[in-house]
Amino acid sequence: MNRKRLKQIKDSNAVLKIGFEFITSFYAWFLNYIVAVIPFWCVRKFFYKISGLKLGKDARIGLHTRVIRPARIVIGDRTIINEYCYLDGRGGLQVGDDCSISIYTKIITASHRVNSLEFSYCENSVKINNLVWVGCEAIILDGSLIEKGCIIGAGAVIKGTTEPFGIYIGNPATKIRDRNPNIDYKLDFHPFFR
Ligand SMILES: CC(C)(COP(=O)(O)OP(=O)(O)OC[C@H]1O[C@@H](n2cnc3c(N)ncnc32)[C@H](O)[C@@H]1OP(=O)(O)O)[C@@H](O)C(=O)NCCC(=O)NCCS
Repeated sequence: MNRKRLKQIKDSNAVLKIGFEFITSFYAWFLNYIVAVIPFWCVRKFFYKISGLKLGKDARIGLHTRVIRPARIVIGDRTIINEYCYLDGRGGLQVGDDCSISIYTKIITASHRVNSLEFSYCENSVKINNLVWVGCEAIILDGSLIEKGCIIGAGAVIKGTTEPFGIYIGNPATKIRDRNPNIDYKLDFHPFFR
């Protein structure tokens, strides 16, 4: 193959790449700045589902929540993600059943290697097991595993694995005590316009 032909192929690949980036960026904007403010859950739910986000029965995502890479996010039955949260699916995000994720919580599944000369990017999944309550404005960092029944206090910053039914507060979050391990509830929250 001659040089001219090679350059033509490279150029057409570059155009395809830019076109793909344009379309995916446009869709991310549409999902986060148009769909996310539609006040009717059934409409938002439709768009999240066609974006590949797996939503359990009666789960919901509140208004103004930002969703990154929805196809890598799984949300369990009856779980409530309240308003203004940040759900990052880049590294894979799984939230169990009957979890309550309070307003302004951020769950992050990507980062950069601190000693990398090239500022290299990395992804690590986050898993939140059943019956977890995350208080408002908590931050759950990449690679974390929040075990069943935990409470993460308002404003806590978590990186790592928690013990089942532990109550964690602060930055960095530490365990202050245990929650009653006999909890057994099913969330049932269907507000209008949220
Ligand atoms: C973690 C939490 C559940 C603990 O509740 P609790 O068991 O009733 O705790 P207490 O109020 O008895 O506080 C125990 C101690 O921890 C401190 N504390 C409680 N929550 C804290 C938090 N989120 N961050 C830092 N410190 C906290 C209290 O000041 C208190 O300190 P002290 O012993 O020095 O006085 C609660 O404080 C919390 O963060 N709730 C989240 C509320 C929220 O986000 N609601 C929105 C959705 S409804």
